[in-house]
Parts: sequence; C-alpha cells; structure tokens
Amino acid sequence: MSGLVRLQPASRVRGRVTVPGDKSISHRALVLAAIAEGTSTIAGRAAGEDQDSMVACLRALGVSVDDSAGETSVSGVGLRGLTSPGAALDCGNSGATMRFLMGLLSGIPGIEATLVGDGSLSRRPMARVSDPLRRMGAEVATSPAGMPPVTVRGVQLQGADHHLSVSSAQVKTAILLAGLNAEGQTFIVGRDTGRDHTERMLRRLGVDIETGDAIRLRPPTSLPAFRLAVPGDPSSSAFWLTLAIAHPDAEVTVTGVDVNPTRMGFLEVLRRMGAAVEIGAETDAGGEPAATITARSSTLHGTVVEPQEVSAMVDEVPILAVAAAVAEGTTVFRGLAELRLKETDRVEAVATELRRMGAQVRTEGDDLLVTGGRLHGAEVDSHGDHRMAMSLSVAAALAVGETELSGAAAAGVSYPDFFETLAELAGTAVS
Ligand code: S3P
Repeated sequence: MSGLVRLQPASRVRGRVTVPGDKSISHRALVLAAIAEGTSTIAGRAAGEDQDSMVACLRALGVSVDDSAGETSVSGVGLRGLTSPGAALDCGNSGATMRFLMGLLSGIPGIEATLVGDGSLSRRPMARVSDPLRRMGAEVATSPAGMPPVTVRGVQLQGADHHLSVSSAQVKTAILLAGLNAEGQTFIVGRDTGRDHTERMLRRLGVDIETGDAIRLRPPTSLPAFRLAVPGDPSSSAFWLTLAIAHPDAEVTVTGVDVNPTRMGFLEVLRRMGAAVEIGAETDAGGEPAATITARSSTLHGTVVEPQEVSAMVDEVPILAVAAAVAEGTTVFRGLAELRLKETDRVEAVATELRRMGAQVRTEGDDLLVTGGRLHGAEVDSHGDHRMAMSLSVAAALAVGETELSGAAAAGVSYPDFFETLAELAGTAVS
C-alpha cells in the first residue's frame, strides 16, 4: 500500500465481511497472557502495526510470542517475571501499548525501561497515567510537558484510591495493571471510563474485581494461562456499516462483531439518525458478547450527540461525521475534547478534510457541527491517522467524482486489508 490512493465513488455496495479481531481486547489479552502462569493461546488476534508494537515490546521484556500456528501462543512469565529490555521500548503509534506498559512495569520491582513512540505518540499526554501511578508510589518520569519519552523504574506499589478526572479506558487499564502487583486494593471512581474489556478479562481469570460506578481490585497471587477467541472489532465494522447505511444502493453484513455496550455508541447514534441496522443473536466470545450486524441503505437525518455519549463511541466520531455529512440537516457532536488528543487532533482533521469534499462543518470550542449535503471528490489527507484514512475513504465512496487520499497507509495501524475489502464491497478498484 503506497501513501497515496485514488478512490472512485461506489455505484453499489454489497457483501459479507469479517473484520480483524478487536484491537483493544487483543492488546489486553497479550499483556495479561505475558504475565500469566504458562502458555496462553489467542485466536483471531487483531492485525496491524499497533499490535506489532505491543508484541515487539513484550518480546523485548523477555516474553516469547509465537504466531506460527495460525493463532498466537504466549509463554507467560508470571506477574513479576518480565525483565529489563536492552534498548528503549518502541511503542510506535500505539497509545495503548505505552500506557498499559507504564502501568504494568511500574509495579515490577527492579525493572527499568524507557518507552518511546513515533511523532504522533510523542505528542500525546502521558501525565494522565504517570500522575495516578505516582500516587501508588511509582517512579515514572515523562518530559516536562508530561509526554514521551517515559522512563519507568519498577518498585513495590501500594494500592490507592483514584478519582479520575479524564474519561479514558487506557488510563483505567494502566492503573488496574499496576494494581495487580500492588500491596492492598486499588479503587477507581470518577469519570465514565469507557470500554470495560480489562475488567471483563480480569474477572474471567478469577481476579477479585468489583465493577459498577466504582471499580475495586484486590491483587491476585498469580494469573492462570487462558485461551481466548477475540471477537471482531466494532470500530473496524463501523466503516462498512456506515458505508452501507449512507449509500443509496447497499447492504453489508459484518459477522462475529463484539457488541459490548461500552463500544456500541456509534450504532445508537446511527439508529437515531434513521439507520436500518439489525443485530443478530448474541453469542459469548470469551466474556464478551458478539453478533452479526447487517446494515442497509437508509435515509439519514441529523441528531445531537451529548458529551456523556462520547466515551462509548470515542473512536467512531470521524466516521459518524461522514454519515452526518450526507444526512439531512445538522448533526451536533458536543464535548469532543478527548478527540483532540488522539493520533491527530480529530476535531480539526475531520473539519478540514470534510470541508475539502464540500461538507459544511463548523467547530465551536470542542463541539463539531456538520450539515449534510452532497460530497464531491477532492484531494484529502489522513493526517497520518488510521481512522481518518478509513473515514475519508468511505466519504470518497459516497462522493461524486474521484478522491485522492494521501497518507492512506495509516490504515495499516489497525486494518491492513481495509482497501482490499473496500474494493470488494464497492466493486471498484482502489489504485
Ligand atoms: C482504547 C481506549 C480509547 C480508544 C483507543 C483504545 C483502549 O482511548 O480511543 O483507541 O483500548 O482502552 P482512551 O481510553 O484514551 O479514550
């Protein structure tokens, strides 16, 4: 995949798709398998560069990860068995890799590591993780601005009560990973902390964890090895479902998608906009609900997305903005401050790029207002952000005329086969 692709409008969209395994669940499964007792097996693990970053870091910390048998086999080293890496840990573009490892390594006495990232990750906030970890006694250093590189010296941590001021599942997960090796219990209250995959997985492994308005974790003495089949990534499914809903001649079915309510905010919003979507019977996928989702051509109208809804759709706002750009009337997304801290400032990136395609988009502080109409092909740029690259490609399939997308290769961070699948569904060549 080169950095620049030419995309044609889709005249018809049809197909059945299996999306890559969920990235968030895969990251957590890798980390927990690394510190379990014995060999764990992960089937259907996510594809993409973010996963590669996590695997490379775990190997550098002394964990054997083997993908040769079509599934991932991880030889766990126990809760405190990771060893200091010989060089800086390169987390690439992956915020989850850096934040999860900050939490985990800070509670392993004697370990020392420096975590670095690419240009985008090097500008993302890490103080939101290092501050609560320090309250547990962690020795974690960031740049003076609270950004990477991050240096961790592992020590014996103490459980603490955390009142979170940011709504972030990555921060919550980092604290829980630290809590696994702390003395005493870890307690988290405060903002809605979004996706609950960590809590579900820890409970499945027999860890004493209470959830609800507050989370309370009591440290285990060890974690058992496990076998997990990862369900499909709802964030990846959102591109195909939105394409189907927003296109006048379309029907798409996505199989085996994780339908955990903490990830389903985007479907709720699309339904409110008038989308025809059916969710099939739920099955259990390692403690997560999974289902087949079918979406078809719909007449969409604007809606208002309130700030408290954002955490359950935090990665889907760019693709929802594309739906809004072809809907009748205006869609208002309120309270998107967290989106400014992602792989790029997604509020500005969405506004800039959709405007190039003829959409009427305004920002008011951290609110995004999109008035629907007809999109036209244009020269657009992903800003090096995987979700922007894929959202703009869907916009291109819905537009009139050709679109030239730069930075398309960013899609490989979470969805290496994205453009092949787009070509199959839309029946058009992507060049
Ligand atoms: C993630 C949580 C979200 C999300 C990211 C993955 C996770 O980040 O944007 O893509 O796996 O926990 P925040 O928790 O920082 O909002």
